[in-house]
Order: sequence, then C-alpha cells, then structure tokens
Amino acid sequence: MKENRYIAERELDRQKEIAKALYAELVDRDLTFFVETFGCQMNVRDSETIKGELIEIGYSEAESKDEADLILFNTCCVRDHAEKRLMGNIGALKDLKDRKPGLIVGICGCMMQQEGMAKKLLKRFPHVSLIFGTNVLYRLPEMLQSVLNGERVAVTDRAEDAIAEGLPQMRDNPRSAFVNIMYGCDNFCSYCIVPYVRGRERSRSPKDIRDEIVSLTGSGITEITLLGQNVNSYGNDGAAGMTFAELLRYVSDVPGLKRLRFMSSHPKDLNEDVMQAIAQLPNVCHHVHLPVQSGNDEILKHMNRRYTRERYLSIIRRLRELVPDIEFTTDIIVGFPGETEEAFRDTMSLIDEVGFAAAFTFAYSPRQGTVAAKREDQIPEPVKKRRLRELNELQARKTVENNEKYIGFNGEVLVEGCDDRGDETMLYGKYQNFKMVYFPGDPDLLNRYVTVRVLKTNKNSLMGEMIDA
Ligand code: 5AD
Ligand code: SF4
Repeated sequence: MKENRYIAERELDRQKEIAKALYAELVDRDLTFFVETFGCQMNVRDSETIKGELIEIGYSEAESKDEADLILFNTCCVRDHAEKRLMGNIGALKDLKDRKPGLIVGICGCMMQQEGMAKKLLKRFPHVSLIFGTNVLYRLPEMLQSVLNGERVAVTDRAEDAIAEGLPQMRDNPRSAFVNIMYGCDNFCSYCIVPYVRGRERSRSPKDIRDEIVSLTGSGITEITLLGQNVNSYGNDGAAGMTFAELLRYVSDVPGLKRLRFMSSHPKDLNEDVMQAIAQLPNVCHHVHLPVQSGNDEILKHMNRRYTRERYLSIIRRLRELVPDIEFTTDIIVGFPGETEEAFRDTMSLIDEVGFAAAFTFAYSPRQGTVAAKREDQIPEPVKKRRLRELNELQARKTVENNEKYIGFNGEVLVEGCDDRGDETMLYGKYQNFKMVYFPGDPDLLNRYVTVRVLKTNKNSLMGEMIDA
C-alpha cells in the first residue's frame, strides 16, 4: 500500500474504466489529437503522458492542427511572453472551430495553475472547452468524457499535489527518454513562479524510478535524463529514503543504460556525494546544467538562491578537478530588480571566468505573486535588453573558445538526427558531455553510437568525421 502522497489506486482504476468505455465508443471514429508543448522538459514529459492517455481513450496523433479533432496547448508561464503567444495561438483557432464544430480546444500546463487564469480564458475564448492544471493529468479520461458530453471543464485543483504512478505514455524518441524523479519545487527563488504553479516538492520512490528505467532500456532506449526542478534535493521530503547521490548509484547499473543524465541542479544542494557519483559511475555523463542566475552576491541574496558566487565557483573548480572533461551549461537572468551596472558586470565576469559550453539567458520578467515582482526598483526594459545583448555576445565568444578546445578530439556520439544538405547528408549527435557535433554519414546510423573526430569548428558547432561506426 502506498502512502497518501500518491493518488489512490482505486481512483486510477476508476479513470482507467472511463478510458476503456470511451475507447469502445470512440475507436471506430478515427479521432485524432494534436498537442503543442511550450516551455521546459517537465512539460515535454507531461505531454508524453497526456498523449499516452489520449491513445488509451481511442485517439491517434494528427500530423497537424488542421486535421486534429482535439487540439491541446500545454503551456508555460515562467516568463511573460509565453502568455501573449498562447493568447495569439488560441485566438487563431476560432475560425477552425467555426468550420469544424466538433473540434475540442483545450489548454493545460503551468499557466492554468495561475490564480484566475482558467476563468479568464473560459470567458475570453468560448471555443475553449477543456482546461486542466499540472497535477490532474490522471483525470483526463473523466474530463474528456464530460467535454464529449457537451460540458466545458476546468480542473486546476491545488489540493492534488500528489503523485500518480502507472499512467500510459507515448514516448516517440527511441533512443532517449526523460524520467521524472520528483515534482514541484520548494525553493521559492524570488523571481520564479514554478513553486506556485507546480506545488510542493515531492519525490517519486526509488523503485518506481528504477522500474521505469528498466522498462525503457528494455525497449531499446540507452540514454535517460532524470528530471526535477532541483534534482539535488531529491529525497529531502523524507519520503524516498534516499539522497540524489544514492539514487544515481541505485539506477546507474540498469542493464543497457549507456548514458545517465540529470537536470536541473541547484548549486545550493549539489554536494560532494553527488560530485563523487558523477566522477565514479561510468555511465553518468560529464555534463552539469547548473543555473547560476547571477554572478553578484547581493543579487543572489535577493533572488533567494542561498549560495554565493564563491560557492558556485568552488563547485565548478571541484568538479573540474574530479572530472577533467566535464562541461557546464547554465541559466542566467539579467535585469533582476535592483541590478546595478556593477552587479551586471559581476555576472559578465563570472561567465568569462567559468567558460560555459552554453548559457540560456533571459531578461527578468516580473511574475505576479512572486516576491521580486513587488519590488519598486524594477529595471527599465531597454536596460535589460542591452544587458542581455552584451551577455549573449560574451557567451557567443566563450562558446567559440569552448569549441576550439575540441579540435582533434574524438569520442563516442549518439546519433540524434540528420540534415539533408543537398550534396551530402550531415548527421548530428552529442558526446557524453553534451557537446554536439555534425559529421557526414548515413541516416541508417540514427539512434546508434559512432566514434567521431572533430576536424574544425563553425562558430556554434563542431564539425567532424566518423572514424568508426
Ligand atoms: N524572468 C526571467 N527568467 C526566469 N527564469 C525563471 N523565472 C524567470 C523570470 N521571472 C529562468 C531562470 C530559470 C529558467 C528555467 O528560467 O533562469 O533557471
Ligand atoms: Fe524556480 Fe528556483 Fe525552483 Fe528553479 S529552483 S523552479 S528557479 S524556484
């Protein structure tokens, strides 16, 4: 019997019964869905569950929105522009709905968890009939049943910050998969809306995680990325009985698991045990996505990040000492309230000092309900834009510098895709430490491991040749 932080099995069974009944009713109607996903890997992962559920209900995936009988937007609300984009997207479906009255338009994901949002959308867009939040995916059969009966449904229940195991999945990447190890976030960084929309941190049980990985590798997947808002706090809720470092050890010996990745890490919780696990476990990849957000201690404090610049740099130094070929990527926010020119320079100098393989950079975007949004010392948009531009220029130079280290390097690449460039086909894929390389080759090698030597760099990318298939 599982504890009550899990959705009860009888409730999951009830949903399965509804799904079965819907399947019997719908399967001959050739209904299709189109799910459009915005935002981070967490949403990508949720969409795989939603698609799996829709298939169980009797739908299949459409090639495009125009053909679909059900269109669902899985939304993000981490920054402001996502909202504007969503409104545009939904507005644009009104004509389609007029032409095709049976069309179901739905919206789900983080944005639906924002106070008042569901109501606002239902009112503004009469052609939307299904809205649900991030914690009720397991109730999709029931919700869809109501919608098919002509009701408009909105379920964004915050009381349900629990874990639902065993939901159907549609994973279409045959080589690589995301596996949630935890949901939610307890960190309350002062700019961030995630803890409000995704709820409290809760860890899955180690056994459920391992079983899922075993089943994925059993189907031929060789690369797993463990997902959490802050994977380093795995088990802090006491429920898992294991720390993140222990979890890495516990899952790393799953047969067929060639590459074990994880994201995101939080510098306040990335400890020596985790660093040792990265160094010691042969299939844990030598890449850490370690969001720094700012290089200035005062700003870090106001962001409620709970580490200093020096602590951050000491993690980088220690990991480089233990794992010489390790690469780092990061997230950075410029224009956080109160960010002086001097504070911004600290971020610039940190970027210069660390030499990230890549950085995801953002202009601060006030999110209603967060602590930082209430501050009066907001930075004017043009200043944020200029800082972002300067930062991106610096990182672009650092990326080139980072790439240059790789000329002559060779190692194993997992082939992820191919680009037909007229006269020749270019394959691309990543080394274990996340560096991407392009090289000529046969598309048959897709999803396989090949050895590639780097010959030159083209600004953003490495160009190489295959030395062994
Ligand atoms: N404004 C700008 N960037 C943000 N992020 C999170 N919240 C905000 C915000 N309000 C960025 C952080 C985080 C990444 C996923 O998004 O850098 O690491
Ligand atoms: Fe947001 Fe901070 Fe949690 Fe990341 S760790 S999701 S930035 S509150």
